[in-house]
This record gives sequence, structure tokens and C-alpha cells, in this order.
Amino acid sequence: HDVPLQETFDATIAAEQRIEPRDWMPDGYRKTLIRQIAQHAHSEIIGMQPEGNWLTRAPSLRRKAILTAKVQDEAGHGMYLYSAAETLGVDREDLTTKLIEGRQKYSSIFNYPTLTYADVGTIGWLVDGAAICNQVPLCRSSFGPYARAMIRVCKEESFHQRQGYELLTTMMRGTDEQRAMVQESVNRWWWPALMMFGPPDDQSPNTAQSMAWGVKRHTNDELRQRFVDMSIPQAQALGVTFPDPDLAWNAERGSYDFGEPDWSEFMAIVKGNGPTNLARIARRRAAHEDGAWVREAATAFAAKQAGQTRS
Ligand code: ACO
Repeated sequence: HDVPLQETFDATIAAEQRIEPRDWMPDGYRKTLIRQIAQHAHSEIIGMQPEGNWLTRAPSLRRKAILTAKVQDEAGHGMYLYSAAETLGVDREDLTTKLIEGRQKYSSIFNYPTLTYADVGTIGWLVDGAAICNQVPLCRSSFGPYARAMIRVCKEESFHQRQGYELLTTMMRGTDEQRAMVQESVNRWWWPALMMFGPPDDQSPNTAQSMAWGVKRHTNDELRQRFVDMSIPQAQALGVTFPDPDLAWNAERGSYDFGEPDWSEFMAIVKGNGPTNLARIARRRAAHEDGAWVREAATAFAAKQAGQTRS
């Protein structure tokens, strides 16, 4: 007789195999994946803005070319992730509408302004570094299209992280003023980078179920700790410090102790009240509306091509 669908799903998860779009899946599994993948895609797209801010003011042709390539990569990641979400039966147009109406979230990190050019380096190093730390385990996520998308995304994020670090090492070899600019930038981005991993485990409503389903592979706090541990030697090599008096090696745990991020700031940002939330969404909405003619032309062209093939 037929094995019940739920049993087949559970057995696939238990055997660490992949769930594919045509497989039966519980509604909750589908919903949580749409939520996470859409939020992830929106983050990539909104994430183009803070760095895009420096494209016209990059200090050399080489830096401008690198930054342009990087921002284009983020657009590619967003498109790739919207495609992964579409395999779950949602429509990209609908997801974009939800984003610009504030009904779906995107990462808190992209609601801070990029005040100096050093921020381009710091975002590459710390923000993309945190993204890699969070996303490498997602290459083993139980949903096939998401896991496969993460492989390519992580490769490109590694390039982004290195370009950021290299930019900062160049500035650190420069003048006192440049070194101060790097330190000031790191001071502003450190705590927001730690918040990227989400709320503490005891305040994370989704983690337990997402881990049981193999959607997430580690808790928010586990990944935050991993990020702190990997970042400290990098900061030492660079010659900067993190703005946390509680940072200290804990020999017993074999990890660094660190202070508590300001979770009230995090909550305010997630609710849409961060320093740049309104501007980010307004910009996205304007780009979407200004691009309507491109979508219309592409749709008309595709219809014409399809007509020609038929005749
Ligand atoms: N920014 C904004 N919202 C957040 C953040 C954050 N940094 N962290 C958590 N949240 C939201 C969650 O989306 C959730 O809200 P929802 O239930 O309305 O969707 C709520 O806060 C509670 O959090 P959790 O229960 O911990 O949510 P979840 O299990 O989804 O974990 C996490 C959050 C770790 C961000 C997870 O979704 C994830 O790994 N996503 C994939 C990576 C990603 O989206 N990265 C984007 C930034 S990196 C980049 O694009 C360069």
C-alpha cells in the first residue's frame, strides 16, 4: 500500500536527503521556506543600496570596477533566490509587492547608512563575513533548490569578503586619518553585524522547528559565536579593535566571551523604525515603478517570440 505522504517526508528528512519542489511537503515547511527564502532574496536586493551609495565616489577606477561587480552579484543572488522561492509556488511579482508594502522582512543590517568609504570595506569584511558564516551551513539545507543556490552564493560572498578585507588592509597601510576612518567604521558595524544572526535562541520562535526540518542547521547563537571567534584574529591582523569591553578569551569554553547586542535597537529596526528603513523601501519602490516599462517590453517581446515559434 501507499506510504503516507507525511511518513515519506519525515523519512527523507531523517535520512538527510533533499526535498524537491514536486515532493509532498507539510504546509508549515513550505511556509517557513517561503518566508526565509523571500526574506533572504529581499536582503540581497535591498543590500545593493548601502554600497551602491559609493559607486560614483569610489577612489579609483579599479575600486569602482570591483564595487560595481560586487553590487551586480548581489542582484544576481536576489534573482537566484526569487527563482528558488518560485519553485514553492509563489510569484516573484507578489513577493516584491510584499516587500515594498512592508509585509515581508529583509535583513536588519541594510538599515544602517554608509557614511564613509571605509564602510565599503567593513561591509565586505564583517557583513559578508557574517553572511558566509550563516549561509555555508545552508548549503546543506533540506530543500534542494535553496541548498543548491547557496553553493554559488557562498562562493561569490567569499570573494566579496576578501575584497572588503583587502580594501581595509590597504587603508590601514595609509595615513593616520585613513586608519582612524577604518576603526570608526568598524565601531559602527560590529554590533549590527552580530544582530544579523537573529534574536537570541530563547527569543527565536522559528529556530526549533526549522532545525527539526533541516531548513536551518545551527541556532542563531551558535552561528553568532562562530562569527565572533573567526573575526577576532582577523581584527588583530588588520590592527583594529571591536567596541566591546566584554570580549575575552574563555579557555574553558575554547571561545570568546562577548557582550550583549542592543536587542531593543534590533527590534526597532525589524519593525521598520531603523535609521534608513523608509529610504530603503522608497528607493526600492521607485526602482520597481521606474522599471515597469522594461518588464512590459520584455513580456511583449516574449509573447511575440512565442507567437513566431508557433506560426
Ligand atoms: N533582520 C531582520 N529580521 C530578522 C533578522 C534580521 N537580522 N533575524 C531574524 N529576523 C526575523 C525573522 O525573520 C523572524 O521574523 P518572521 O517570523 O516574521 O519571519 C523573527 O525575526 C524571529 O527570528 P527567528 O525565529 O530567529 O527567525 P529565523 O529562524 O528565520 O532565523 C535568520 C533568522 C537566521 C536570519 C534565518 O532566516 C536565515 O538564516 N536566513 C537566511 C539568511 C539571510 O536571510 N540572510 C540575509 C542577510 S545576509 C545577506 O543577504 C548579505
